[in-house]
Amino acid sequence: MDKYVIGNLKMNLLTQAERDHYLKSFIDEVYKAGKFKSRLIICPPSFHLEKFIDFFRGKKVSVGAQNIYFEQRGSFTGEISALMIKSFGAEWVIVGHSERRRLFGETDEVCNLKLRAALEEKIKPILCVGENLDQRKNDLTFEVVSRQIESALKEVVSTQIDKLIIAYEPIWSVGSDEIPSSDEVMQVKILIRKKISELYSPVLAEKVPILYGGSVKPKNVKQLCLEAGMDGVLVGRESLVPGEFLKIVQSIDKN
Ligand code: PGA
Repeated sequence: MDKYVIGNLKMNLLTQAERDHYLKSFIDEVYKAGKFKSRLIICPPSFHLEKFIDFFRGKKVSVGAQNIYFEQRGSFTGEISALMIKSFGAEWVIVGHSERRRLFGETDEVCNLKLRAALEEKIKPILCVGENLDQRKNDLTFEVVSRQIESALKEVVSTQIDKLIIAYEPIWSVGSDEIPSSDEVMQVKILIRKKISELYSPVLAEKVPILYGGSVKPKNVKQLCLEAGMDGVLVGRESLVPGEFLKIVQSIDKN
């Protein structure tokens, strides 16, 4: 299976100058390094989507949104839809990121509606799942992740399942520099495959890339991705520095 390296730029690149500088450094760092094997996806703030899509066209980097609303159009002040990002050329969308669940009250039901809205427009969802610190301390990781997957995939049919990426992002690790062991990550990966296998089939379960996300850096990518047997990584902070992002891509490519 292809390996994925996804950059989630969150609410950064606040000015035109910052954005242009980022894109220029991306070319300088990432492209000058030559070809890469991993599949790269960058998710900028929606405000920059169109610019990023134009910029990366033909350059082997796909562009995704960080969020969508589940309705297609209409009186939903402040929202953007799957149809909208699709028509501008985005291919992916992050669904159920822990910051959206935690700060914006997104429930499992809402994640399910967003995931289905994306699939309906042929936008590929990157579904984020993961436990918080309390749940981890109480040994509830498997239960929480299993429930999040089951709810998110409600009414998703088997022909749609290979369009999906799942990112295991323990909430306590996102933005914190705390990381799980490769063994802990691998255990959750096995659980996720098993869950999809039960909901669909073992063959389909093998088609879903399962990524790790949370404090990924060049120095820990081996532990969190390669030793854990993951199909790639979802990178937050380090994706804002193209040089660091490149080191992550290179170490995944090497193996
Ligand atoms: P981080 O964020 O790499 O900054 O921890 C990961 C994410 O939010 O996807």
